[in-house]
Amino acid sequence: MSAQKCIVLGVTGSIAAYKAAELVSKLGKIGYAVRVILTAGGSEFITPLTLETLSRAPVACGQFSRNAPYEVAHIALAKRADVFAVAPATADFIAKAANGIADDLLSTTYLATTAPIVIAPAMNESMLARAATQRNIATLKADGCIFAEPETGLLACGDTGRGRLAPVGDIVAAIESALQREKDLSGKRILVTAGPTREAVDPVRFLSNRSSGKMGFAIARAAANRGAEVRLIAGPVALATPFGVIRQDVTSSAQLCEAVLGAANWCDALIMAAAPADFTIDAARHKIKKQGEGITLSLKPTADILAQVAGRKGNCIVMGFAAETQKLEENALQKIRKKNLDFIAANDVSAANMGFGVDTNAVTLFCKDGQKVDSGLKSKRELADWLLNYIAAALDG
Ligand code: CTP
Repeated sequence: MSAQKCIVLGVTGSIAAYKAAELVSKLGKIGYAVRVILTAGGSEFITPLTLETLSRAPVACGQFSRNAPYEVAHIALAKRADVFAVAPATADFIAKAANGIADDLLSTTYLATTAPIVIAPAMNESMLARAATQRNIATLKADGCIFAEPETGLLACGDTGRGRLAPVGDIVAAIESALQREKDLSGKRILVTAGPTREAVDPVRFLSNRSSGKMGFAIARAAANRGAEVRLIAGPVALATPFGVIRQDVTSSAQLCEAVLGAANWCDALIMAAAPADFTIDAARHKIKKQGEGITLSLKPTADILAQVAGRKGNCIVMGFAAETQKLEENALQKIRKKNLDFIAANDVSAANMGFGVDTNAVTLFCKDGQKVDSGLKSKRELADWLLNYIAAALDG
């Protein structure tokens, strides 16, 4: 058997289906085997013959067709895929995939495959902007699907707006990045921390911070998708455990410290995205009652977890985060030295679309060899993969 990679491409019922011909042709010229699944809607816009000729392989159409070229078509295609791509993807396909509905060959194959998934939506602007579609896209992104984002321009319906299929070159790039990323961290053990900590003041109150845990969870999910064995130590956050990740919940900075030190010898890389409290307090046994003149809390410092790990890190690659509101570079460089880190990802948490709580982030990554790289504004999922590229390279080096 050749090591030729196989792209299973779903083509659904959008006018942009005609561009699937160019996509199939390009993928074939690069050297990939392409197997097309054409939905009933897709076949209204482009013929199986066109796609068969370009892919040099039978096009799979109906789930229950007795002439299907594979024995159990959806399982055979799901297993064959090194990447499963859908371009163009209609609102209908996106809705079905987001909800696990499997009522035709393409949606059943989507459920059955374990390959990385690339989706290139194409639809009218209002359909794309509709809350239901946006919810479904967000669900699929959270499930790990890679999106070749639609463009803004003149749409087939005559409207101008966002919804045009991404350029074929962008879809090919998304497919190739999905292929490359596949399992490049397999065999690696990665420890990720995420979220805030809580320091109890009394039985009903605590001190905490604005960390949502989203960045750390995105890193844990991306690392698991790339084949790593991932342990996630999470402070109190309202986030679901990513598939395949082992999670340990902690509350206080001291508990986080104990958990990290306990796992420090296990991991090949530690990514410390948590925001542990820097100060704690001896909690009152009973609820502190209202007092007219107010109260003064006496805070004492917590242990610096990274500094403790750094002292015993051996070959473990360590990435810290620096949340800053001023003098970003100066503070980040000081932390990389003081905490003996391999990398520090620094961000300006005072900016509206970066850092705490939001779904986007932008960091400047400082490396211990003096290199400095800007990520640009990205979704936290994309940023997670961007950061992991540096971890993967350091683990290989
Ligand atoms: N960190 C840690 N232990 C602490 C506090 C922070 O290990 N007690 C880690 C964070 O997880 C992060 C890095 O250190 O990866 C930097 O955190 P940050 O809050 O930016 O820096 P601090 O060292 O706490 O310094 P300051 O709050 O004064 O900026």
